[in-house]
Amino acid sequence: MTDARQGLSGLLDTEAIRKDFPILDRTVHDGKKIVYLDSAATSQKPRQVLDALNAYYERHNANVHRGVYTIAEEATALYEGARDKVAAFINAPSRDEVIFTKNASESLNLVANMLGWADEPYRVDRDTEIVTTEMEHHSNIVPWQLLAQRTGAKLKWFGITDDGRLDLSNIDEIITEKTKIVSFTLVSNILGTVNPVEQIIRRAQQVGALVCIDASQAAPHMVLDVQALQADFVAFTGHKMVGPTGIGVLWGRQELLEDLPPFLGGGEMIETVSMHSSTYAPAPHKFEAGTPPIAQAVGLGAAVDYLTAIGMERIHQHEKAITEYAVKRLLDVPDLRIIGPATAEDRGAAISFTLGDIHPHDVGQVLDEQGVAVRVGHHCARPVCLRFGIPATTRASFYLYSTPAEVDALVDGLEHVRNFFG
Ligand code: ALA
Repeated sequence: MTDARQGLSGLLDTEAIRKDFPILDRTVHDGKKIVYLDSAATSQKPRQVLDALNAYYERHNANVHRGVYTIAEEATALYEGARDKVAAFINAPSRDEVIFTKNASESLNLVANMLGWADEPYRVDRDTEIVTTEMEHHSNIVPWQLLAQRTGAKLKWFGITDDGRLDLSNIDEIITEKTKIVSFTLVSNILGTVNPVEQIIRRAQQVGALVCIDASQAAPHMVLDVQALQADFVAFTGHKMVGPTGIGVLWGRQELLEDLPPFLGGGEMIETVSMHSSTYAPAPHKFEAGTPPIAQAVGLGAAVDYLTAIGMERIHQHEKAITEYAVKRLLDVPDLRIIGPATAEDRGAAISFTLGDIHPHDVGQVLDEQGVAVRVGHHCARPVCLRFGIPATTRASFYLYSTPAEVDALVDGLEHVRNFFG
């Protein structure tokens, strides 16, 4: 144990929590216990979620909203029950505002396409502007580029300061009367920065622009209250919040979901169909064409139960303590440069860094030999790497099962890396 651990408070009982996650007992490379520091890429899954998935397939599997037989009704109740759980988790005013998608990328593409096909007053066209930031995951850049290319709208963005925060000094020039939509991340997946939502939303509301928040790196880690946020859309994914892959969420304000057009057409999203035209089911079904990710939604419901039982505020405090400890220890590693806020304030539990001129892929490989799993590369946020003049970073990210000892293992591993590369 190091001195830096003195005064760490708010930690969860990770010994108990880790018993729920079978994979954390795995060893790699001749018996080295895995130190999983890549939860920003995907979280590990507790037994409670794995059991819910198994139970669904073993006892209730059937298609939803169609069958009149017992297990079909059970499957529908489980799927719609998961929607209730997600709605409560994010404090949505109505369960009908929760749309299930494949992942956060699909949720963000859905918003971009709703607006692209919308009538006034939502329509994005050549006389309008779309605003995002340089700090986004590609999933919150590319859909807007596609929309701008298709409609002729202008794409604008906020830059990043040297310490990895959004540069809002020109907010009145970036968000203007022409802005139709402002879409930004609540927590950066690469820098860890927590963004000043209120300031951005206030300006967007002044000019009557819609606001879409990418909460992929927020929903797993903090209380997410869509009513308090006051955005119009909030997107996140299940697999980063101890749920399965293949399930994402788009929350949208009810009146918008009523007005905006669907993106995908197909079964279950209609009211009537003739060979000439169709009418659509009310939201959320209007936006859920085809057989939905039923088992995955059930798994997400179990994930929400799991996180809620522990408490999102407690999870947040735990990660804050681990992040504070990690920042302190990493800053003591020679030649290490944190890319992003070098503090535990207003930052999430993902820390990117470079280590001298050692390539992050080499860092990641030597760490893996010690059992330490981190992500290396541009983290689907290439504009951030370009902004900082680096090809890639090494990123360590933490979650409710992460421990100070794992931070120590990372720092020891980095010592190996430095020795290895001289
Ligand atoms: N979006 C995930 C990450 O940041 C995959 O690593």
